[in-house]
Amino acid sequence: MKDASPQTIYLKDYTPFGFTVESVDLTFRLAPHATRVLSKIRFAPNPVASDRTFFLHGEELTLISARIDGTEVTPEVTDKGLTCAVPEGAFTWEAEVEIDPANNTALEGLYMSSGMYCTQCEAEGFRKITFYPDRPDVMSVFTVRIEGDVPVMLSNGNKQGQGEGWAEWHDPWPKPAYLFALVAGDLVNHPDRFITKSGREVELNIWVRKGDLHKCAFGMEALKKSMTWDEEVYGREYDLDIFNIVAVDDFNMGAMENKGLNIFNSSAVLASPETATDMNFERIEAIIAHEYFHNWTGNRITCRDWFQLCLKEGLTVFRDAQFTSDVRSAPVKRIGDVMDLRARQFPEDNGPLSHPVRPESFQEINNFYTATVYEKGAEVIGMLKRLVGDEAYYKAVDLYFERHDGDAATIEDWLKVFEETTGRDLSQFKRWYSQSGTPRLTVEEAWDEGGGTYTLTFRQETRPTPGQAEKLPQVIPIAVGLLGPNGDEVRPTEVLEMTEAEQSFRFEGLAARPAPSILRDFSAPVILDRSLTSAENAFLLAHDTDPFNRWEAGRNLARATLLDMVEGDAQPDADYLDGITAVLRDRALDPALRAQMLALPSQSEIAQQLHDRGQTPDPEAIYAAHEALKLRMAEHLQDLLPVLYAENQVDAPYSPDAEQAGNRELAMAVLGLLSRIDGGAQAARQYDSADNMTLQLSALSGLLIAGKGEAQLQAFHDQWQDDRLVMDKWFGLQVAHAAPAQAAEVAQRLTEHPAFTLTNPNRFRAVMGALGMNHAGFHHASGKGYALMADKLIALDAKNPQTTARMCALFQTWRRYDAAHQAHAKAALERIAATPDLSRDTTEMVTRMLAV
Ligand code: BES
Ligand code: ZN
Repeated sequence: MKDASPQTIYLKDYTPFGFTVESVDLTFRLAPHATRVLSKIRFAPNPVASDRTFFLHGEELTLISARIDGTEVTPEVTDKGLTCAVPEGAFTWEAEVEIDPANNTALEGLYMSSGMYCTQCEAEGFRKITFYPDRPDVMSVFTVRIEGDVPVMLSNGNKQGQGEGWAEWHDPWPKPAYLFALVAGDLVNHPDRFITKSGREVELNIWVRKGDLHKCAFGMEALKKSMTWDEEVYGREYDLDIFNIVAVDDFNMGAMENKGLNIFNSSAVLASPETATDMNFERIEAIIAHEYFHNWTGNRITCRDWFQLCLKEGLTVFRDAQFTSDVRSAPVKRIGDVMDLRARQFPEDNGPLSHPVRPESFQEINNFYTATVYEKGAEVIGMLKRLVGDEAYYKAVDLYFERHDGDAATIEDWLKVFEETTGRDLSQFKRWYSQSGTPRLTVEEAWDEGGGTYTLTFRQETRPTPGQAEKLPQVIPIAVGLLGPNGDEVRPTEVLEMTEAEQSFRFEGLAARPAPSILRDFSAPVILDRSLTSAENAFLLAHDTDPFNRWEAGRNLARATLLDMVEGDAQPDADYLDGITAVLRDRALDPALRAQMLALPSQSEIAQQLHDRGQTPDPEAIYAAHEALKLRMAEHLQDLLPVLYAENQVDAPYSPDAEQAGNRELAMAVLGLLSRIDGGAQAARQYDSADNMTLQLSALSGLLIAGKGEAQLQAFHDQWQDDRLVMDKWFGLQVAHAAPAQAAEVAQRLTEHPAFTLTNPNRFRAVMGALGMNHAGFHHASGKGYALMADKLIALDAKNPQTTARMCALFQTWRRYDAAHQAHAKAALERIAATPDLSRDTTEMVTRMLAV
């Protein structure tokens, strides 16, 4: 039963469970509507705990029978779990429960997807499988027997035995229940093997539905690359004889790191050149790495409680970013990550959903798998590494692995290994985990001509956030380099360590007033509030040796010109157009970087910027300025575009590697502009000749930009109607390209398409997520974007609370806009809030967004 009564859990209330679990034996008798789960669990009193209440979590379970040490017992069962009187010493608990996987549309616990059984237990899904202390600090060794009329049956660890209609698995590594997994179905595998650096052989498999076998090769290569990388960079080896990955169509998240049995959303693992774009390939490589890296950061060392989520997620995101920087281009990855941080984390940190990297309370933990915990959590580790240096970083992490292997650890444990390794006091640094909001950094420059001394004075300020009125100064590593008047670097990058609210740093012995390049490589997740003239930005765009800041200078110019255009019908800035032209002409510059420099700040970023300056953004005016600037760029670059397009065609057979992908990305960005002035002619030609999805989809996108493409949309549909992942693109693209006034209707119409369904999160996100990302369409003055979103979220909540609650966050910026917009958004949120039987997940989200 759903439970909407808000119960808040606090970090400060942590107490250990009264019992330890020595072993867990599970038997699954599979049946779609009536699966029986038999559990046999050995409990012993926990010497470090004082409270001996025997409470086991359990939700949506039918208890058939329970025994303690072989004797039938009658526990007291509620909709949250059970309590029971137990012996003083160690004892064996046995229970049989019945569950209904086929009716489990929440996709949490044991459920069915395309005819196969699969599980998702993080964070608190195991309690929907059987009665258990479902908390990450209770770790045990699991043995699992699966019985059923199913060809392939998988669980964690190593296979112990199998026969007609059964299989047995044993995982020797103690783990919390959230890492449990089971998969059973008519699956086929793409096999391979890996020899670890100490010479152990590991069997690798990617398990998929029959028609998907040709989409596994890339994921397998990514897995082997990840295994090698973790050995080489972190010295971490894999620790079982087998590593299985399974692709599942209906999945709330991207993927899950269950011990030895990772389960993936099929969109996060399956790829072929014909069906997946370069971007899809890159994301798959990163997600496979991420989940694999969890084997050490998350599984071998797990979290004491869910407040410590960033301990595994922030660290693992940081590790997967290091991996991607190493195997692809470091600057391109960094710029992409910062764009993502600004698009997703900054709005969160500066709006009603703001919370610390380590939250102090929650109602529903699923709502805290956020950009703040993940992306800001990774930034915090990046800052730590920058402050202590690479050598100390790896030394401290080694100590962390050595000291805490097998533990359920905390942020305190993590910081302590750094304090011990470096002798530093990290108590102020720890504020990054407890203080929410994005610090704003302002700079003043002073130049003493006579003494050749240049001084930078920084001031930091963090605005109040919900529940945190007072803010203290953070430790901010500010990477700075200085350029001379001719553009040469006169001081290489140096990391200034800011700890005060206001602090000055001096550079001596300079021959001339330098131009500073501040916050190189985006050395801290802060808002650098520095108004440069367009000449100063143009200078940095031309000369900065730091690729990130070079990109940032172009970004500043683009942002400034967009803001001027929104505010005063200004013409695009000539410095911007000339600067970007020079960058595009620079053949020495990585095409992928040039493509990133061509991209404009999103409409939502411009809205945020206006709001920050105390103005009320008008989404349609921003849309119009965006369109006008792109058209003006296309005209300005008219002669260069066809040249760049031709130069960046790839003749070699398709490969998703960074080099080819970079060429295609630049060609695609160019095609987007070209389509504004050539009536879609080039896009139509590209569509006809495309032999991979990157080209096919970008051609379709170019056609839609040009207001064409009706025939091609139909052709695309007919070609790909049997491929769900490609059809998601077809759905999403139409909403993404819809004009502001039509976006809601387009989305509405697509939800009526026979292939639309509420039971597949990917499909729901393809349509409704795309509407949320269509800034001027979602935030349309009519309110119809908000209303449609509310309708669909209300419908989805009854089936899938987790995905509904996550998508509710699309409303988080609603107070930025004018009174009429706010009234529409508020009505939509209140309508969601008033829905009978609304899930706890969604209730928490809308309540936080409506709170003043
Ligand atoms: N542990 C998470 C998956 C998860 C999240 C399960 C929330 C249950 C609730 C996994 O490691 C993860 O972080 N996946 C990300 C992708 C990753 C590359 C950041 C995801 O699923 O989006
Ligand atoms: Zn993760």
